[in-house]
Amino acid sequence: MRTATLGDLEVSRIGLGAMGMSHGYTGSGSDDAESIRTIHRALELGVTLIDTAEIYGPYINEELVGKALQGRRDQVVLATKFGLVSHAGDGPWNVDSSPDNIRTAVEGSLKRLGTDHIDLYYQHRVDPGTPIEDTMGALADLVKQGKIRYIGLSEAWIDTVRRAHAVHPVTALQSEYSLWTRDQEEILPVLRELGIGLVAYSPLGKGFLTGALRTPADIEALDDSDFRKTSPRFIGENFQRNVRIADEVKAVADEAGATPAQVGLAWLLTKGDDIVPIPGTKRVSRVEENSGADAVTLTPAQIATLDALPVAEGGHHTDEQMQMIER
Ligand SMILES: NC(=O)c1ccc[n+]([C@@H]2O[C@H](COP(=O)([O-])OP(=O)(O)OC[C@H]3O[C@@H](n4cnc5c(N)ncnc54)[C@H](OP(=O)(O)O)[C@@H]3O)[C@@H](O)[C@H]2O)c1
Repeated sequence: MRTATLGDLEVSRIGLGAMGMSHGYTGSGSDDAESIRTIHRALELGVTLIDTAEIYGPYINEELVGKALQGRRDQVVLATKFGLVSHAGDGPWNVDSSPDNIRTAVEGSLKRLGTDHIDLYYQHRVDPGTPIEDTMGALADLVKQGKIRYIGLSEAWIDTVRRAHAVHPVTALQSEYSLWTRDQEEILPVLRELGIGLVAYSPLGKGFLTGALRTPADIEALDDSDFRKTSPRFIGENFQRNVRIADEVKAVADEAGATPAQVGLAWLLTKGDDIVPIPGTKRVSRVEENSGADAVTLTPAQIATLDALPVAEGGHHTDEQMQMIER
């Protein structure tokens, strides 16, 4: 596995998202033993960047990752996120990046992860009620105390990124970027100007780009707790229209002798060595497949075909969730 740098933090070229092991997708939490084997296999394959968040579960995903990393902590660049649990306020799914909340959140994350430091600590969503300068000031104090090493933002847009970076270097922006979600291409020049890396979340289009979900019946079969069931891209006419994107990815994959998941990831890797996708899976076989994308080379014609694909019909998330995303 090659490496990449986010700011001056070295990570594997492809990371592993742990969210779906505990939260969000059908089968979450149903097989923690396989999830832990998946994390161990990722480390064997040279994947070093492991991504979790306080809100995943909430809390149980950090606990699972902490359990998996017992005795292996020094092999990993461990990333987690705060800011979607308001500890002195209304609890989970409420934005709160106030300094007090950060100081509470970090202690909980350190404990659940079984570590004395977090390598990359992200604000999960921008908090309109707290100036980003105050948030960054609290995070900079945590860096000084050695509790966190690097600072990230997630789904923040240009003005916030610039203001944050003026207080303390931002190492990475983690936002949705994939073949069917390309708005990050607008902010990339700013990130490059500032020396900030881009961590691409949901790089497989929440599984859609792999071709695993092809018919309305496939969506119907998902658990009711699976957030794709209510996600605008996965329902109604949008879904029917979007299927052609997955068809095109499959056609390129067949030509390249790779799988659609590998092609989706390999395409992201062509966009720059400061872009690190973190595909999520809770299965050993898929972490092997996804990590293998590092060795897939696309021809210029294949890249051009993929570049020319339309972006998805329908928003990234529900309208309610979109209100927490800065643009
Ligand atoms: N910052 C944020 O706001 C934010 C938001 C969302 C996600 N994230 C992070 O980004 C990570 C990745 O995003 P994501 O999990 O939403 O989406 P993703 O990586 O695009 O897709 C994950 C889905 O694809 C399936 N999958 C994975 N590899 C596959 C393969 N080779 N073939 C077929 N299906 C495959 C997974 O199922 P199985 O698990 O069953 O394999 C899961 O349902 C998360 O784990 C999380 O750490 C961050």
